[in-house]
Amino acid sequence: MHDVPTGLQLTVFDETFRNRPYEFFEILRRVDPVHLDTMLGRIALTRAADVAAVLKNRSLSVDHSNAGPDSIVQKFITAQDREAPRSMLVLDDPDHGRLRRLVSYAFNARAIDAMKPKVAAIADTLLDAIDGMESFDLVEAYAAPLPIIVIADMLGVDPADRGEFRRWSKGLANVFSPVRTPELLAGLKANSDELSAYFGRVIAERRAVPREDLISALISVQEDGDRLNDEEIVTMCNLLLLAGNLTTTDLIGNTVLALLTHSDQRAKLIARPELVVEAVEETLRRDPPVMQSLRIPTEDYFIGGVPVSAGSAITTFLMAAGQDPALHANPLAYDIERADKTHFAFGGGVHFCLGAPLARIEAQIAIARLFERLPGLSLAGKPIERNMSAAFNGVKELWVVPQPV
Ligand code: HEM
Repeated sequence: MHDVPTGLQLTVFDETFRNRPYEFFEILRRVDPVHLDTMLGRIALTRAADVAAVLKNRSLSVDHSNAGPDSIVQKFITAQDREAPRSMLVLDDPDHGRLRRLVSYAFNARAIDAMKPKVAAIADTLLDAIDGMESFDLVEAYAAPLPIIVIADMLGVDPADRGEFRRWSKGLANVFSPVRTPELLAGLKANSDELSAYFGRVIAERRAVPREDLISALISVQEDGDRLNDEEIVTMCNLLLLAGNLTTTDLIGNTVLALLTHSDQRAKLIARPELVVEAVEETLRRDPPVMQSLRIPTEDYFIGGVPVSAGSAITTFLMAAGQDPALHANPLAYDIERADKTHFAFGGGVHFCLGAPLARIEAQIAIARLFERLPGLSLAGKPIERNMSAAFNGVKELWVVPQPV
């Protein structure tokens, strides 16, 4: 019998949670699935059934202002966060629904499908650059730049601006740092101001001369005469970078790591490349890039029969839900041919990840091209460290040896 992990133990500051979160999830799921974490001020959910019910529930809020004063949300939110324009991720209906509908006209299946050949070309260019290297860090050389280049291409960032765009995109990631010093916040603000000013300039240019790109599409979408204004387009562009870059990097990194540490699974993939779709889904189930998603009840509420008061911050642990033995036999095994890979990696309900189709094609193409070109890829034997990130589950570096066969 273990003590129930709580507070900082359920954060990246804890060595066990950072490296083997499933150990704590297993205890919580079994002993205290609706866990009241009084130290941090939240309710932690680990059972698939509870996580699914909460994510699907339209009456729950994502608006931080609905969280009680003792909740984790109010304790860690900064004045800077409060002042920033709010994206759809933290808005409730009707504002959420309006933005999501308008944006979905532009960020649609056709636009994403059109990216497939471009993603393959971007993957190949990155792989060309590591040709001949004895070993390389797969995160730095491949998994991190790929989604940034893809979204830059989709948005219509001019090739001449790509260097700066990449710097700003990387800078944005500091928003997820678990320790937010005044210096870090100042750096974040400067970075975000520069990026927003850049988007503002591009929007003005595209208003004058539209092109075949996502920014032009966001400008032209309309529904019953309603349109997105410039601030909403800038906020949306920022959200696409914030929500899409590190997550997709981690999905690629976690999939490569799983395949390189499960030689039977990797052999199957090499023999049957179409299994790449299954490999990516199995990573989303077992090693999802996003650890948790938040919901806030605005009135008293019950989860699995346990009362939860209005204003509570409910943390749904997406990884714990995907690893629930009530859903999957042998849940910690990485089995790309597992018939049912139900997972919660993209959240659920009205906030279900808007970029899921893009993330899937990016990861599938990136993994397929990598193992096609470097079928003998192996780990370089360096220690593998998880990222110190409050929200994400990925590796800092992933040193590999190409060994083409
Ligand atoms: C593997 C990669 C990704 C993962 C694991 C992921 C995960 C998530 C999660 C968990 C949410 C919150 C859902 C909820 O609370 O129910 C979310 C929302 C969102 N994601 Fe993703 N995401 C990924 C990639 C992307 C990409 C590539 C984009 C776009 C370029 C994107 C855009 C968004 C947006 C706009 C939202 C807000 C949706 C809303 O509030 O309605 N994501 N994502």
